[in-house]
Amino acid sequence: MKLIRVLPVLMVFVLLSALLQVTKASEPQVQVPSLGQVYKEYFPIGAAVNSRTLLTHRDLIKKHFGSVTAENEMKFDHIQPFEGVYTFDRADEIVDFARENDLMVRGHTLVWHNQAPAWVFKGDNGEPVSRAVLLHRMKEHIHAVVGRYKGAVYAWDVVNEAVSDREGFLRADSPWYKILGEDYIAKAFEYAHEADPEAKLFYNDYNAVNPDKRDKIYKLLKSLLDRGVPVHGIGIQAHWDIYGPSLADIEAAIKKYASLGLEVQITELDVSLFAWGDKSSFTEPPQEFLEKQARRYRELFELFRKHSDVITGVTFWGIADDSTWKDDFPVKGRNDWPLLFDDNHQPKKCFWEIVNFD
Ligand code: GLA
Repeated sequence: MKLIRVLPVLMVFVLLSALLQVTKASEPQVQVPSLGQVYKEYFPIGAAVNSRTLLTHRDLIKKHFGSVTAENEMKFDHIQPFEGVYTFDRADEIVDFARENDLMVRGHTLVWHNQAPAWVFKGDNGEPVSRAVLLHRMKEHIHAVVGRYKGAVYAWDVVNEAVSDREGFLRADSPWYKILGEDYIAKAFEYAHEADPEAKLFYNDYNAVNPDKRDKIYKLLKSLLDRGVPVHGIGIQAHWDIYGPSLADIEAAIKKYASLGLEVQITELDVSLFAWGDKSSFTEPPQEFLEKQARRYRELFELFRKHSDVITGVTFWGIADDSTWKDDFPVKGRNDWPLLFDDNHQPKKCFWEIVNFD
């Protein structure tokens, strides 16, 4: 093609791109404030991280969060997959990252019916172990893990999800409960306290603001405290959605737990776009749902700020919508968008709603 023919096209192209540059430069740049800084005087804001998101979401973690929780890396099956075989590498990575970046670490979790390897509860013959053997294994594990991170992990979710949300008091399907009975909970707290007397020890659960389950959890915590068991706080997991639970239930639970003199932390916050039981799906999040989510986050954080005298931490279960367990739960493979940052790590409307307040 002759140059004379392409020249005008080229010139138009050059002119247009120059114009675009000028417009871009004159557009006001929106400053994104640090979430952690905005909430500095209220409570630390945390995020659950994993070995991958430490790399892929590094900038967001460093800019916005003051605390991290290991999403899986400190659970029993990750740390001691076989008896006496401790695999601390991934948990160490998270603790090292936190140290380098001046972040607090919440330890999660020591005694839970899930993600505890089968060997813990079985003898060589495959039969359930005795009470004495299981208590010994529990103690060894807690001492090894809490001891290793003494001074680095400021708070532990010592026991996770022990209370039943059906009939009955404690969940009977827990292998800890089956072998040790009710006092496995007290034992776990005692061992954790021995291993690090400075660490804040939490009981952590879901549906913790549902009035029936709340009253059972309250009863459990009260009886632990009455017996002098070293428990310092309650973790409300807060895997919620745009419809519920009600603010009234959340507030009543915060007050009731705090009346025991315990710290309250929101430990696993996310706000799904789907009501529980709804199986519908979308490829993109509908705008009206994102608006609802923004309103809901605003109301939640208004409530959290109101109770910042007893709330000592709010942790999100993830960082951005491109990496969330909700994409597989409760509907496998369905997209959800429960967090403050979108798939491209940009702040969503819900982010702006919780940072802009007077
Ligand atoms: C519970 C546990 C967390 C995590 C979530 C789902 O809430 O406490 O560790 O496993 O379920 O991701």
